[in-house]
Amino acid sequence: MNMSSSSFTASSILLTYCFLLSCLVSSSQLATDYYSTTCPNLLKIVREEVQNALRTEMRMAASLLRLHYLDCFVNGCDASVLLDGRDSEKFAVPNLNSARGFEVVDKIKSAVESSCRGVVTCADILAIAARDAVVLSGGKHWKVELGRRDGVVANQTAANTEIPSPSASLDAITSKFVSLGLSLTDMVVLSGGHTIGLARCASLSNRLYNLTDPDVASDLKTRCPADGDGNNTVPLDRNSRDLFDNHYYKNLVSGKGLLQYDQMLYSSASGEAASATKALVERYSNDLNVFLDDFAISMVKMGRISPLTGYNGQIRKNCRVINN
Ligand code: HEM
Ligand SMILES: *[C@@H]1O[C@H](CO)[C@@H](O)[C@H](O)[C@H]1NC(C)=O
Ligand SMILES: *[C@@H]1O[C@H](CO)[C@@H](O)[C@H](O)[C@H]1NC(C)=O
Ligand SMILES: *[C@@H]1O[C@H](CO)[C@@H](O)[C@H](O)[C@H]1NC(C)=O
Repeated sequence: MNMSSSSFTASSILLTYCFLLSCLVSSSQLATDYYSTTCPNLLKIVREEVQNALRTEMRMAASLLRLHYLDCFVNGCDASVLLDGRDSEKFAVPNLNSARGFEVVDKIKSAVESSCRGVVTCADILAIAARDAVVLSGGKHWKVELGRRDGVVANQTAANTEIPSPSASLDAITSKFVSLGLSLTDMVVLSGGHTIGLARCASLSNRLYNLTDPDVASDLKTRCPADGDGNNTVPLDRNSRDLFDNHYYKNLVSGKGLLQYDQMLYSSASGEAASATKALVERYSNDLNVFLDDFAISMVKMGRISPLTGYNGQIRKNCRVINN
């Protein structure tokens, strides 16, 4: 064996070894203490910025929570939802005139940058902000896993296909969650995010004329007149729109779910999935603590959807554009 072929063998063994190692490590590369030495005040900074935003507008808690979800369902949790430009996910049907909070994320990012320049990714900021939004609305605390890198592409087509429509079938939405490593239970738990925030009349479509509760039906018809602007908004949880509680599930049990999707989780439809979601809705409607605990667990799982780690992706300087 000559010199060059033996060094070729050695380096290919090394490459194979590194490749395997990075495969093994990648699923567990996120860590709650990821920035503890590089940005020790990170959590405090984000918390303060979210608090400031909620002081101005309580709904921002819902908007920040939803942004993390919208991000994770398209290309994994890589802050692709924040990118501007031609293929921006902001213009995809589920997000257009709907996804919001981008200016708040910009503010959080600049506060973080002024303390720890070039260290913290936008994807991680979204995950922390979502947690803080929930906690500041009355939910339980969880430790946010960190170490995601920012993606370098947005994908509007993917946003259109990957973010479930509120009028899709239960089976279609369940398979979407399963394909992302989430279970039917995670789906029902995470939908509890609809205990805060607003939906546009445009998202109600035929559900508006399909409500069994006459009071809710007439109220919604007033708020969403047939000749009106689809941009009018109505609370997803009509009992306590700013409070992170289990009224979302209580509403479903009494047939007062807002979106067709919401009420589908508690319906008289037959089938395994429908009875499983129904049992879970009953469970969470009866036990606030179990819901809040399970929500925290499922949020950690959602935050693990295909993260970019190691040398993949980048740490964006500006959350709206990739670094050049
Ligand atoms: C997969 C099933 C889901 C469907 C079909 C769905 C659908 C929707 C729709 C249609 C809206 C109203 C948008 C508008 O009209 O502007 C909305 C709002 C919202 N969604 Fe979902 N969603 C789903 C899952 C989730 C998950 C997993 C979360 C978070 C854990 C979440 C959190 C929210 C929040 C907080 C709002 C209110 C946002 C605001 O007020 O700015 N959703 N969702
Ligand atoms: C965007 O997503 C679509 C559908 O998921 C995929 O076919 C396409 O290759 C993606 N484009 C980019 C630039 O990643
Ligand atoms: C109307 O409600 C019924 C019962 O909840 C449901 O089976 C049906 O699919 C709904 N239709 C529409 C258009 O939402
Ligand atoms: C809703 O608001 C957006 C942005 O302000 C506007 O472009 C759109 O036309 C409005 N939609 C309707 C149905 O009026």
